[in-house]
Amino acid sequence: MKAVALTHYLPISDPESLFDARLPKPSPAGQDILVRVEAVSVNPVDTKVRAPKDKVEDTPKVLGYDAAGVVESVGDAVTRFKPGDAVYYAGDITRPGSNAEFQLVDERIVGAMPQTLSFAEAAALPLTTLTAWEALFTRLGINRAGGNRGDSILIIGGAGGVGSIAIQLAKLAGLVVIATASRPQSQTWVRELGADHSVDYSDALIEELTQLGYREVDFIANFSDTDTYWGVMAELIRPQGKIVGIVGNTDPLDLNLLKNKSATFAWEFMFTRSMYQTADMADQGKLLDEVAALVDAGKLRTTLGQTLSPINAANLRQAHAQLESGRTIGKLVLAGWREG
Ligand SMILES: NC(=O)c1ccc[n+]([C@@H]2O[C@H](COP(=O)([O-])OP(=O)(O)OC[C@H]3O[C@@H](n4cnc5c(N)ncnc54)[C@H](OP(=O)(O)O)[C@@H]3O)[C@@H](O)[C@H]2O)c1
Repeated sequence: MKAVALTHYLPISDPESLFDARLPKPSPAGQDILVRVEAVSVNPVDTKVRAPKDKVEDTPKVLGYDAAGVVESVGDAVTRFKPGDAVYYAGDITRPGSNAEFQLVDERIVGAMPQTLSFAEAAALPLTTLTAWEALFTRLGINRAGGNRGDSILIIGGAGGVGSIAIQLAKLAGLVVIATASRPQSQTWVRELGADHSVDYSDALIEELTQLGYREVDFIANFSDTDTYWGVMAELIRPQGKIVGIVGNTDPLDLNLLKNKSATFAWEFMFTRSMYQTADMADQGKLLDEVAALVDAGKLRTTLGQTLSPINAANLRQAHAQLESGRTIGKLVLAGWREG
């Protein structure tokens, strides 16, 4: 089968950083399904795993943690899917990724693809949607049925992959959404997705919020750098408010800044369940099914921003380079394995 792989961890400008490969087609066993991958999206995790280092792989390593495709065959313990079903999923960071014509994935973390979306539109969603959903509804404990209606949330990194779906989920729950966006095109994007206000993080964020009438907010979802925003978040969170972060810190975080406010800080890592095979792992598959239903009902929309075709090393190198710029709006997707 065709795949895009690496053996050496090189800067993305090096043509060998990601190369076209031919690998054996895997076959499924147990709870695995084998998926014929039709579209993939790129995420910052791809570029972080690929980041230059001395390590060398003995066999080609396949990255890619977002896919939409069709079930080719199933393992003997599979109950949820059959050959021919259209599916979408993020997968498991400890296993070979989605940048291959065929991929094995545990059925418990797979969802039935939204019927109203193309493969490219669907591939934009899984990883970022799992992250945003778990961040808002599991870690921050926001009530999906409207129990937090009218509460305010500051979404940092509003125009990125995670922010773009988080804005929509927060609006579905009835929150007032203030999203950061630093450029005219990202400001337009977050407003179109439903944000009530956009604020420019490159100026004084606290003053921008104060001018909007928000001296403090009920929730903060930080989908950008944790170190950079730690002090600002401690200032802006209301007493007893909640903050979620998804980017590991590099400096020690001063938890005391949250103490007098009895504010909560929680981490969200969407690979936790598959990495530790947690008892509730199957909730991720159900979550993706529920999101598909919301998409098909017109309540959520794809966050696809740009599609490159076909899926090959040259286009993936271009996608990684674009993502490393930190300027991508929405999701960048690659679709199809053939030219034209
Ligand atoms: N823990 C997890 O499970 C998990 C899951 C997914 C992602 N992540 C991590 O979360 C981060 C965001 O992921 P993503 O997919 O949303 O990234 P992304 O799509 O690459 O985000 C790009 C957006 O970030 C905004 N941005 C750039 N610098 C910023 C800054 N200093 N402050 C606020 N916004 C800034 C830009 O918009 P403007 O500059 O125009 O405003 C741009 O549109 C990455 O580090 C990723 O690895 C973690």
